[in-house]
Amino acid sequence: MPKLLLIATGGTIAGSAADTTDTSRYRAGALSAETLLHALPEASTIGHITAEQPFALDSKDMTPTHWLALAALLRERLASPEVDGVVITHGTDTLEESAFFLHLTLPRSKTVVLTAAMRPATARSADGPMNLLQALACAATQSAAGLGPLVVASDRIWRARDCSKRHTHAPDALGGVDAGPVGVAIGTHIRLDQAADGGAPCFAGTLPSALPRVDVLAAYAGAPADLIDASVANGAAGIVLALAGHGSVPDDWRPAITAAVARGIPVVRASRVASGGVMPQANFDDAAHGTLACGRLTPWQARVTLMLALGCGIPAERLQDTLHRA
Ligand code: SIN
Repeated sequence: MPKLLLIATGGTIAGSAADTTDTSRYRAGALSAETLLHALPEASTIGHITAEQPFALDSKDMTPTHWLALAALLRERLASPEVDGVVITHGTDTLEESAFFLHLTLPRSKTVVLTAAMRPATARSADGPMNLLQALACAATQSAAGLGPLVVASDRIWRARDCSKRHTHAPDALGGVDAGPVGVAIGTHIRLDQAADGGAPCFAGTLPSALPRVDVLAAYAGAPADLIDASVANGAAGIVLALAGHGSVPDDWRPAITAAVARGIPVVRASRVASGGVMPQANFDDAAHGTLACGRLTPWQARVTLMLALGCGIPAERLQDTLHRA
């Protein structure tokens, strides 16, 4: 029997409401890891499961400090012969940020799976129990390890780097950004449709004890350029711009961008469009302005990458390549 570790962090999957039909007013993270497992006796047929609960959060309150603590805990547990695979329960709201952080920082020796739910555990047709069962079955699948951390929900398996929240309330809210699932769960049978490439994570070494402030600023019709000045004045070490289209920069933002870059603050062009990313030099002369392009990353993923790169002391001339490799 594989030895599986459940790391519970809260979310709707551990949510509790007063009414079984209420799927929007409930307390996320109310139920313990033990309670979730107790409601899932079938899990004992998948593996020998132990549980830890480092936090019990509504994931809107997840911070970079939690990411660092989670990565440190996981690195330690994955090194232990007592753990063959790990499942992390997490709120859907910011799952994609934590998942991407783990994608960038965890070794790929054992399978790590994040799962979540859109309906609280007390709801009729709660989606959490089956998601958790399938996530445990996936974590027991050693051949999935080289794909990096995975997300399992609604019968599908995505690489953590490809998954985002795409609906505010529907049960199948999680989906791929620019890539499809790498496999499916049929009941507790796991079918992987993509071979693991076994690549190493981008940040395999020692992680910093804290991450620098990096802001994401959205461009919208009439968005004032002083958003950038305010971010710089408040101590941002880097800025990601969620721009329109293929990273188009409003003309009146150029002076503020130039001023930030002149102060040594990396400015990354990303897009507020759901998929496609922003390629270097597309719609803007990055070389002339000293800006960077996020490549395939979402603004949130570009932020996580830039925080880690700056925190790990990656020099300015290697930041574009780091975003490209993330
Ligand atoms: C949360 O993100 O913690 C609440 C929402 C959810 O899990 O769906």
